[in-house]
Amino acid sequence: MIIKPEISGVVARTAHPLGCEQAILQQIEYVKNARPINKGPKRVLIIGASSGYGLAARIALTFGGADADTIGVSFEKGPSDKGIGSAGFYNNLYFKKHAEQAGRIAINIQADAFSPAAKEEVIEAVETYFEGEVDLIIYSVASGFRPDYATGERWYSAIKPIGETVEGAYISLEDDKWLQSIIEPASDAEIEATLKVMGGEDWEAWVDALINSESIAENCQTVAFSYIGPELTHALYLDGTLGRAKVDLHQTSHSLNLKMANFNGGAYAAVCKALVTKASVFIPGITPYIMALYQVMKQQGTHENCIEQMQRLFTTKLYDVAKVPVDGERLVRMDDLELNQDTQAKVSQLVNAMNATNFTELGDYRGLKQEFLQLNGFGFASIDYNADVNIDQLLRELEQLDD
Ligand code: NAI
Repeated sequence: MIIKPEISGVVARTAHPLGCEQAILQQIEYVKNARPINKGPKRVLIIGASSGYGLAARIALTFGGADADTIGVSFEKGPSDKGIGSAGFYNNLYFKKHAEQAGRIAINIQADAFSPAAKEEVIEAVETYFEGEVDLIIYSVASGFRPDYATGERWYSAIKPIGETVEGAYISLEDDKWLQSIIEPASDAEIEATLKVMGGEDWEAWVDALINSESIAENCQTVAFSYIGPELTHALYLDGTLGRAKVDLHQTSHSLNLKMANFNGGAYAAVCKALVTKASVFIPGITPYIMALYQVMKQQGTHENCIEQMQRLFTTKLYDVAKVPVDGERLVRMDDLELNQDTQAKVSQLVNAMNATNFTELGDYRGLKQEFLQLNGFGFASIDYNADVNIDQLLRELEQLDD
């Protein structure tokens, strides 16, 4: 079949397997040539491993100097009569192919991270492949909902401001349109549900499950990713439902840090840079900011993607350091370049001048769209997008590699 990009609003409906492999190869190439991770972890569990920050962390730790073996948990769709499958599905397979070719263990577990069953399956895999212990647990789940396994109900996250109405713009990546919108404040139930989905509770449940099964190695660390952003986006993010959930995640990092101290380890929330991922394009009102940020940071030579952020996190913050550097709230700050004063002054000017007619000129819309396409395996010069792709054959080949 010939696979072309199909986008509905901000959701990719197709993914190109060969392009997904290309994206992984590019990230591998980057970390192989970057400053290596010294004294890194050898047995890593990544929850939310198939795209964005989680995938980049997995690539950095496997190929960027630590030579880690990994277990990756994700929730992705394989091919079916409904579609070709999600980019994350192919990312998992291609990551595994290249990790195994490099002599590393790479176990993919497709499961709902929120479920008790996923935790049990991972504990078994840790027993089988990691001699029963993990050295690092990364929590990188971004989800729109979480099933409540006690009642059979679901919590849905609602990305909204709290207490005030905020005006913002969505950019439809489907037809490159700027859609001005009014975002109504969240109800108390929506605030609570978003906290359930994106707060720290499930991260804590994972660490507790691993502690209870005696799967935590000496010096084990755990890290989850957060976002704070500049004043400009606070009404939409930090002071809104997602920000509330992130504050909960920060608090969880403190209670987990006490538990990890029993193993001479630690728990951290790492505040990362705003980047285009499957999850972030969903956040109302954030895309104009990301476009402006890309424009300015690329001009200033400070732009980083997920892979640069993760390699820098492991080389300069988490490993081979006397003490993990944290701010006054015990957060690891990876958003230092984003929040640089001069950068923010320029970003703010651009955002304020941006509107439906000029956003493609003022902001880096082209860069943003290109990245979005590449997240789904499109937009790589080296791939012939008019060539037929035989998915069945491709999966057979990848599965054979699996054996
Ligand atoms: P992403 O959408 O690229 O990746 C999310 C991952 O979570 C995928 O591997 C997906 O399969 C997995 N996942 C979703 N639901 C799941 C479930 N029920 N069970 C198992 N796995 C599940 O998202 P991204 O952007 O990498 O986000 C990861 C974390 O980084 C989030 O906590 C996010 O808030 C944070 N972050 C993201 C920033 C950004 O600009 N993209 C900035 C700073 C922090």
